[in-house]
Amino acid sequence: MRVFAIGATGVLGRELVPRLVARGHQVAVMSPGGRQAALPPGVDRVRGSLLDPDAGELLAARVRGFDVVVNTATAIPRDFAAKDAWAENSRVRVEGTRVVAGAVSAAGVPALVQLSVTMAYPDGGERLLRETEPLDACAARAAIAAPVADLEATVRALPVERVAWTVLRAARFVGPGTVQDRQRADLRAGTVRVAGNGREFVSMVHVADFADAVVAAVERPARGLVLNVSDEPVRNGAYLARLAALDGVPGPVLSPGLRADAVSHRVCSAAARQALGWRPVRGIWPSDGAAARGIFCSGR
Ligand SMILES: NC(=O)c1ccc[n+]([C@@H]2O[C@H](COP(=O)([O-])OP(=O)(O)OC[C@H]3O[C@@H](n4cnc5c(N)ncnc54)[C@H](OP(=O)(O)O)[C@@H]3O)[C@@H](O)[C@H]2O)c1
Repeated sequence: MRVFAIGATGVLGRELVPRLVARGHQVAVMSPGGRQAALPPGVDRVRGSLLDPDAGELLAARVRGFDVVVNTATAIPRDFAAKDAWAENSRVRVEGTRVVAGAVSAAGVPALVQLSVTMAYPDGGERLLRETEPLDACAARAAIAAPVADLEATVRALPVERVAWTVLRAARFVGPGTVQDRQRADLRAGTVRVAGNGREFVSMVHVADFADAVVAAVERPARGLVLNVSDEPVRNGAYLARLAALDGVPGPVLSPGLRADAVSHRVCSAAARQALGWRPVRGIWPSDGAAARGIFCSGR
């Protein structure tokens, strides 16, 4: 198949593009920055941003003749606490996805795989979060959830008889180059505090497992499916404690007195398993920890 992947030079792209190439697909990658040099040989490189003023026209011309467009573009802020931290990412999600949907329609590309995120679900407590759950509408999390809802609405508006679309809602990535590296560094530094009792659920997926799900979606175009893609959810406090133990360092400090504003996301991926024949195989734990290297043995 001819696959046009937007934003596939980052954490996910490093896993996704070699898989697509290995499966015999002809791949082109579009991204705005300088990371295209690391793409595998044989991949066409297109330099451009979805936020460029003429992005719509240029993209429509570029994607003509492709079998599927995969949109994985994102501009996640480096510092979540910074002023307007999410502004550019929101533009990539809202304006960028409109550009992609418009280009796919104009060029007659028959399929679209659009990335979304499970972080946009509301606090579900102990409840399993399935795709029918409405996304978070609370004002406190609007900066994160509202652009995701807009992105998905743009894709849902595409007529499925002309564009077979799939939205993959990804859980938080773990594995090399993900936020898990920073969590491990913070645990080693002893700076991790868990507000409340740490019993809220977190949903994560190994980035290589997620790349497998994207490949499956590319190869099995769906006519309008939204799918959660996550490994088994775990409780946050227990996750961080085990992550620390695997590296042979003390666990996080539970701080019941601290205000807990963490949301609980117990995401169910049964639909993706059924529709894509996908299942996670790598787990969520690092394979290079002190325990894995035999340096630390706890008897777990
Ligand atoms: N990381 C996570 O934990 C996580 C969790 C759930 C879902 N996701 C989703 O997975 C997808 C990939 O994320 P990632 O972790 O691989 O992100 P990443 O490592 O930050 O890579 C982002 C990609 O988007 C490109 N990009 C940035 N701004 C763009 C623009 N204006 N137009 C076109 N491309 C642009 C980047 O290009 P440059 O190389 O030029 O920077 C890069 O290729 C995203 O849809 C993200 O929302 C990520």
